[in-house]
Amino acid sequence: MSRLPKLYIGTNTKMYKTIADTVAFLTELGRNTRDLSRDCMELFVIPSFTALDRVAPIARQHEITLGAQNMCWEDRGQFTGEISPLMLREVGVGIVEIGHSERRHCFGETDDMQNKKILCALRHGFTALLCIGETGPQKERGTADEVLRMQLKNGLAGVAPSQAKNVWIAYEPVWAIGVSGVPATKEYAAQRHQVIRKALIELWGEEAGGGVPVLYGGSVNGQNATELIQMPCIDGLFIGRSAWDPDNFAQIIRAVLREGAYCHS
Ligand code: 13P
Repeated sequence: MSRLPKLYIGTNTKMYKTIADTVAFLTELGRNTRDLSRDCMELFVIPSFTALDRVAPIARQHEITLGAQNMCWEDRGQFTGEISPLMLREVGVGIVEIGHSERRHCFGETDDMQNKKILCALRHGFTALLCIGETGPQKERGTADEVLRMQLKNGLAGVAPSQAKNVWIAYEPVWAIGVSGVPATKEYAAQRHQVIRKALIELWGEEAGGGVPVLYGGSVNGQNATELIQMPCIDGLFIGRSAWDPDNFAQIIRAVLREGAYCHS
């Protein structure tokens, strides 16, 4: 069971939902979770950039934190195709997702790039959600823990303990993500979460490092969500496909709140 008082649960809609889709999704999700106290959970949705401005009032109304799927490390300049922290601030984004496996593996983003984005996100007052995870071959070679420690320590270089309260980590093994992914067993996920927690404490000390939420992501669904959340060191869930239907997502949220014995109405 997580040591943190709140459940962290959210979804990244990747490159799937249009503005109209996102409006419908957030409206329905808000309606389906209206009775659940936000004191017990941090509910977040990370939609496409184009939907952010339109859905910000809906998210605010339902106390759903909005996130962005990526961000440039510069405020402005000659960076065609990038999105600035100032632009994200303007539309009311609270979280910036950094280093998702698809950014690393489809678009060649490196730990150094993630580090620049993390420092920039923190400078601008966002919550920085750093995603880390080993590939299938790295798992087979037994180097998963080394990979996770490298991604964490390089990605978070230069972040002070006082800034740790604005950092969340998502552990998303690359082999577990998406349609061809196989969900991690609860034991495997819990072991990796312990490695991550230890590295965070090495970086920032017991108090600051111990308070950083570490979420699991990768083929989370209605069947495995509750057993994952019962494991020590798993503080939340970051869900793709199974969350994109608002009824399904709300059912998972309710089940997880119940199993995790978070306060709920
Ligand atoms: P899936 O739940 O679809 O495997 O995606 C997880 C993910 O990438 C969340 O960011």
